[in-house]
This record gives sequence, C-alpha cells and structure tokens, in this order.
Amino acid sequence: MSLNLRGKHFLKLLDFSSEEIRYLLDLSKNFKDMKRAGVPHRYLEGKNVALIFEKTSTRTRCAFEVGAKDLGMGVTYLDPTGSQMGHKESIADTARVLGRMFDGIEYRGFKQTTVEELAEYAGVPVWNGLTDEWHPTQMLADLLTIEEHFGYLKGLNFVYMGDARNNMANSLMVACAKMGVNYTACAPKELQTDEEIVKIATEISKENFSTVKVTDKVSEAVTGANVIYTDIWVSMGEPKEIWAERIKLLKDYQVNADVMKKADEQAIFLHCLPSFHDDKTTVGQDIAKEFGLVGLEVTDEVFESKQSKVFDEAENRMHTIKAVMYATLF
Ligand code: CP
Ligand code: NVA
Repeated sequence: MSLNLRGKHFLKLLDFSSEEIRYLLDLSKNFKDMKRAGVPHRYLEGKNVALIFEKTSTRTRCAFEVGAKDLGMGVTYLDPTGSQMGHKESIADTARVLGRMFDGIEYRGFKQTTVEELAEYAGVPVWNGLTDEWHPTQMLADLLTIEEHFGYLKGLNFVYMGDARNNMANSLMVACAKMGVNYTACAPKELQTDEEIVKIATEISKENFSTVKVTDKVSEAVTGANVIYTDIWVSMGEPKEIWAERIKLLKDYQVNADVMKKADEQAIFLHCLPSFHDDKTTVGQDIAKEFGLVGLEVTDEVFESKQSKVFDEAENRMHTIKAVMYATLF
C-alpha cells in the first residue's frame, strides 16, 4: 500500500490504514524533534490554509495556526460569524470559492456530512477539526502521547469512561482498534457507543489482534488498565438543560482516585480537554452552585496528579496536526 497521503482529506480515522496512521505518528515525532531542537521546517512556504470554526476551540485552532506558520504557510481564521457559509452561501459554493484561494481547509462544526461536502467540492485537502461524530486530529495526539509514555501501543489496555456516544468515544474506539490497543468503553447503557461503530471497530481490532469491549461496570473495566481516558459529559452543541440528566447518568463514571487505584500502578490519565475538574470556569461554577459538585468527569486530584499527561497530550495536538498538513500538502 502506498504511504503517499498528498492531496488526501483527513475526515475520520476510518479512512486511514494502520500503516498510514503509523506514518503520521512517525512524522509527528520528527516534527516534534525539529521544533524542540529549533530546526526550521518551513517546507510549505508560499502555501495558505483556511481555518473554519463553527464551534469554539483553543487547542485545535492554535495547533493549526502555529503548525501552519512553522511550516511557512499563511493562515486565515474564519469564526462562526466571520463567513457567509451556511447562512448566505451553501457549503458547496463556499468550498469551491475557498478551494480557489487556499491550499488546504480545516473545518470544525456540527454534522460530519458538512465536512464531507466541503471535501467533495473544495478540490484541496480538507481536515476535520471536530464534528459531532468524529475528532480525528485529536486521535493522533492521543496515540502519540501514549506511545511516547509506554514506548509502544500494541497490547495496551485503554479504558474510556463517560459519554461513550460522543465524537471522542467514537474516534478512540476506532483509533485503538486500528493500532492494536485493547479498548473498553465504560458507560451507562443509555450512553453507550452506537452498535454499528462497535461492529466496525471490532472487525478492525481482530485484524490487529486486539479487543473492543463495552461495559457499564466500572470495576471490571478499569482493573489493570494502562490508560484511563475521559471527556466532558456535555459536548459542544448540546443544550445546557441536559446537564442534570448527564450528571445523574454519569456520576458513577467519574475518574477519581478510586478508579486510578484499580488501574495498573503505572497507568496514565488522559483527557482531550477542556475539562471540568475544578470550579475555576464559569460552567464549573454554575454546576457547583446548582448540583453541589466540584469536579465532574475527573476530580482535581487525578487531573493534577503525576499520572495525568493531559498537557503532553495538548502539546502533541500541534506536532500531529503539523504532520497531517505536511503529509497532505507537500
Ligand atoms: N481537544 C480539543 O479539541 O480542544 P479545543 O476544543 O480547545 O480545540
Ligand atoms: N466531546 C467534546 C470534545 C471536545 C474536544 C465536544 O465535542 O465538545
């Protein structure tokens, strides 16, 4: 199989082989080494990228901006109110206009079908910066962080706790299956991963000699785990009225000291961020006031512990996104 990704879109990890993901991880490591050593890598000088964000972002936007600038590219950021897309101009028309001016387009928004339509019409690589269904660039950062920590991926036991139907859970199930990591989704029955995705991921995992499990039993899931992962309980685009129901369903699925004690002694904690681990955010304060809970999906104790590698993970967003842009544009 060819490992040439030039001109390819990056819409979801299902579209990529294990070898292609390996190639992107290795490329990310090279870019990380160069950045750390201060070696310039303006390989894409003269090119330009557009970053469309219909939802808010800190990490993804900054990773694309800094990554593109390190590669020598120009960057245009379009916020939810900054373009005509969807309001006065169709996705297809926007794609055809931007494709005439830019060499690559990043899109964060709601439906996966939107980023797919952009890709269909743009004529240049389109990168998914998060949709309701998938968050593929986050996957590369997560895999890189795990591999950097343990030195390998295959055979590790990975547990995702929380809302197992969201973009992160869908993506992590596929990412682990592709790379031979044993994956367990630990969530109440009401918030379990879509059966179709479980089926697809299970088939992929068999090819890579790993497993995909789904359970609502915390103890069973986390005992001996190498990686414990969680995400916020209410995702972007969901109404805030849903918090009460989510807290009721997920309070027993919080990552806390008890969970980490049951995991392997050397286990690490990961989170895509942002996280509600304290009351230093307005949302965190509102929840603390209404529900009397400080620390939702993860306690502050775990978040701030030595086992927590969340800031290594956040940094890796930039190195991995740089690799995606380079591989598809060079
Ligand atoms: N993890 C992640 O995608 O963060 P942002 O929402 O800040 O981009
Ligand atoms: N599930 C979260 C991920 C944030 C990076 C959301 O979509 O808001």
